[in-house]
Amino acid sequence: MADLIAFDAKTQVFHLHNQQISYIFAIEDGGVLGHLYFGQAVAGYHGERRYPRKDRGFAGNLPVAEPERGFSLDTLPQEISSRGEADFRIPAFVIRQADGAQASRFVYASHRIVPGKPKLPGLPAAYVESPDEAATLIVTVVDQPSRLQADLYYTIYRDRAVIARSVCFRNPADQPVVTLEQAASVQLDFPAGDYRVLSLPGAHANERHLQKEVVGYGIKQFASTRGTTSHQMNNFIALTAPDADEFHGDVYGIDLVYSGNHALTVEKDQIDQVRVVAGINPAGFTWELAGGAEFQTPEALLVYSHQGLNAMSQTYHRLIRERVVRGRYRDQERPILVNNWEATYFDFNEAKLRPIVDAAKKLGIEMFVLDDGWFGHRDDDTTSLGDWVVDSHKFPLGLKHFADYVHNQGLKFGLWVEPEMISKDSDLYRAHPDYLLAVPGRAPSPSRFQYVLDLSREDVRANIAGQLSDLLDQGYIDYIKWDMNRHLSDIYSHALPAARQGEVLHRYMLGLYALLEELTTKYPDVLWEGCSGGGGRIDTGFAYYMPQSWTSDNTDAISRLGIQYGTSLVYPPNTFTAHVSVSPNEQTGRSTSLATRGNVAMSAVFGYELDLTKLTKTEQKQVAAQVAAYKQIRPLIQFGHFLRLESGNDYAWMFVSADQNEALLFTFHLLNNGQPAFHIVKMAGLDPAKQYEDTATHTVYGGDELMHMGLYQPLQRQDFTTHQYHFKAIN
Ligand code: GLA
Repeated sequence: MADLIAFDAKTQVFHLHNQQISYIFAIEDGGVLGHLYFGQAVAGYHGERRYPRKDRGFAGNLPVAEPERGFSLDTLPQEISSRGEADFRIPAFVIRQADGAQASRFVYASHRIVPGKPKLPGLPAAYVESPDEAATLIVTVVDQPSRLQADLYYTIYRDRAVIARSVCFRNPADQPVVTLEQAASVQLDFPAGDYRVLSLPGAHANERHLQKEVVGYGIKQFASTRGTTSHQMNNFIALTAPDADEFHGDVYGIDLVYSGNHALTVEKDQIDQVRVVAGINPAGFTWELAGGAEFQTPEALLVYSHQGLNAMSQTYHRLIRERVVRGRYRDQERPILVNNWEATYFDFNEAKLRPIVDAAKKLGIEMFVLDDGWFGHRDDDTTSLGDWVVDSHKFPLGLKHFADYVHNQGLKFGLWVEPEMISKDSDLYRAHPDYLLAVPGRAPSPSRFQYVLDLSREDVRANIAGQLSDLLDQGYIDYIKWDMNRHLSDIYSHALPAARQGEVLHRYMLGLYALLEELTTKYPDVLWEGCSGGGGRIDTGFAYYMPQSWTSDNTDAISRLGIQYGTSLVYPPNTFTAHVSVSPNEQTGRSTSLATRGNVAMSAVFGYELDLTKLTKTEQKQVAAQVAAYKQIRPLIQFGHFLRLESGNDYAWMFVSADQNEALLFTFHLLNNGQPAFHIVKMAGLDPAKQYEDTATHTVYGGDELMHMGLYQPLQRQDFTTHQYHFKAIN
């Protein structure tokens, strides 16, 4: 382990390092943990290069007999900062002490280094499969007057440019109750400099677009108060050098392994230093910590790259694919599916669906997914959420009867559910009107006519787990799409006293995670797909339970280029799904060719979302060819390295196998021009010494030729054109 984490007793410096990165901090005056460095590996650090001392105007000092005026919490880069004791920048945690004060200061008490990576109780987290893969440093700090303790967790992997961080607060058994008002997962202080911050804002049907801003003086927050990750602001940001791009420059990624309210806050201070604090959003959050109790924060994954955004993305992709996603499907190719949502919406029955299944079989599609509307009497979105029993009008012979039909056609059978929700018109609501989040004396706000179940309550979870188990125990369901179609408001739980209502949102998340853990463990053969009105809950925490998620309710190929581009910043393409739908598109009205729709959807976990019985003969041939082609390239798409090459009016991205013997290039040209320039796309990630053959034309190119000279894109007199190239090394 010493090869990964070292502590130098003389200099009091901790150094976490592998071949790629170093993370360094020191025990400073009074036991304060001063941050020294995060970045490219430094093998030769001797512990002498420290944060300089300087008396700054109006900076407070430590309350000791002989204060050192050059040492101030107001300027020192730190590992964990508090509010209330002379650090005026954003804090990592805020504690309301028993006497009502917010003062606290955590100082070093002890540390230990353990092999591997401990699990986080009740929370999703990156994991190891053998203790040799990583080492974890646990530094215990203490607020001496209140004796409150915190364990700071730092895991470094042997062969990944990743540091995993989290904090566990502990109140000693004989101490009075204190209240956590903020408990971030990570604080990361950067030296003075000129930085950019990348974030992934969006909206329903328009998720995760790349936003790049200058980090200026003051405080900027990227957050969700919607009770969930949200379409509006993903829980990832990156700080970068001003000129960093896809292939060059310093990039520091900060990703939360969490699916609830989050805040990633960036502050540039008076002397150009930048602090990032990331974790559960403190807005509306409080947590009572009684004597003897603990509070574990979610995990944050820090990634460093000195080679731009692609290298950062590849580190996240490999980590999420190999050590966040779990279960049977982690390493398995995902089936090509057809989903009936955009084909039928709520208007279907078994007789109407069978021909779609027949058509799917003929085209080589591997799974049929029955979407919203199969249960209760749900003919529109006003009813029946909470009643997970089949609608006997739509399926007079039962759901199993239809699933058997699907299976007999050689397809897997998948089913949509929205277990966190309740309609007022439901048997569940009539029996348990107190099951939803609602503030006493106030009418809860509907959204899509529905309300949110209080999953912080054990009895509510047991009801839902029971209903879903009744379905899954019948053994005919191969796949579940777990949807969530509104955000959380009217936050109040009948199970908690008035003083603890600030705990509801995080308790909801812990309850949801417990439910997901129970069901995914009990039904390990089911493929679980996450969804929240499209991509409202694509985050690393959800990927721990759901190997794949629906990227967006917007299935327009051109909109999807931007959405999938942004999504790929953190999440590997085998964790997000993309379907070919009709043209003109149902969301945007745009017309695109089947080839363009196919190439966009094939760049992720592939499927169809249209009425296959309405395809013309020519389209049937094209779809059959797409399905057959995807089966060939699926291992490369789902398990290869993904590289973004271009975005704008021209998009290009590619996939390369680990041995660099195979590569796929997808290019897309959006709007055409009268006198178009010749556009060259340069590939990346190939072996410059290898010869690659284009499998369609048999033209041979050098790897260096494809990367340095690039390929001229053919001119076409049309908008929204695309090309797919498949190269194989021939020597
Ligand atoms: C959400 C999902 C869609 C579909 C509908 C059904 O919007 O993202 O794919 O399942 O719900 O109501």
